[in-house]
Amino acid sequence: MNRLAFPAIAVITALTTNFSPVVLAHEAGDIILRVGAAQVAPDDSSSVVNTATTGPLAATSVGVEDNTQLGLNLVWMWTDSIGLEVLAATPFDHDLKVSGLDQYGFNTVDLGSTKQLPPTLSALYFFGSSSSPIRPYIGAGINYTTFFSKDFTAKAEAELGANGLDLDDSWGLSGRVGIDIDLSDNWILNASVWAIDIDTDASFNSALGRVNAAVDIDPLVYMISLGFQF
Ligand code: NI
Repeated sequence: MNRLAFPAIAVITALTTNFSPVVLAHEAGDIILRVGAAQVAPDDSSSVVNTATTGPLAATSVGVEDNTQLGLNLVWMWTDSIGLEVLAATPFDHDLKVSGLDQYGFNTVDLGSTKQLPPTLSALYFFGSSSSPIRPYIGAGINYTTFFSKDFTAKAEAELGANGLDLDDSWGLSGRVGIDIDLSDNWILNASVWAIDIDTDASFNSALGRVNAAVDIDPLVYMISLGFQF
């Protein structure tokens, strides 16, 4: 669940002990653009799978796998300590799994895939002063997630007669922690994480009629990035 956190801590520790700080940091009016790797790691759970023919299928579930993409992150400093931030990224592409169908005579596990974009707007509070070269921060915000390019595997199509995958858009709250470390006058190293409430209703047509499941994706999004301060 936490593949990026330990390397991030190691990098931060190395930098904070080895570099000489420069006296230039975030202050009111600054704009910071960060570019880096963003990983969406779902802490997923779901309802059981329901079909129109059978009703709820006990001990089944639908899951969502990790994905890493190019993350973009823009911060505008309203004051020396309060910033507004937008998270954007190239589309995340997640594999979808279904478990428990073997009890009902099916062996599909790899169900399909979906792309999603999770733009997130956050208000950030930065600790330290405008002259601190290291600015940890916390934040809270709102997320909108939309799903597209929804496809089934050949196996799901052949065995389940699956088609017409639909995943509802999601609105939810998000929480945020991170740290900015000045590397030079304008360059910043950043490590951060979002916890985002993303829930969707998944449904599709099948040989057993309409199928649906409520899926809580609720990911942690880890990002390591290089920032440029304008
Ligand atoms: Ni949730």
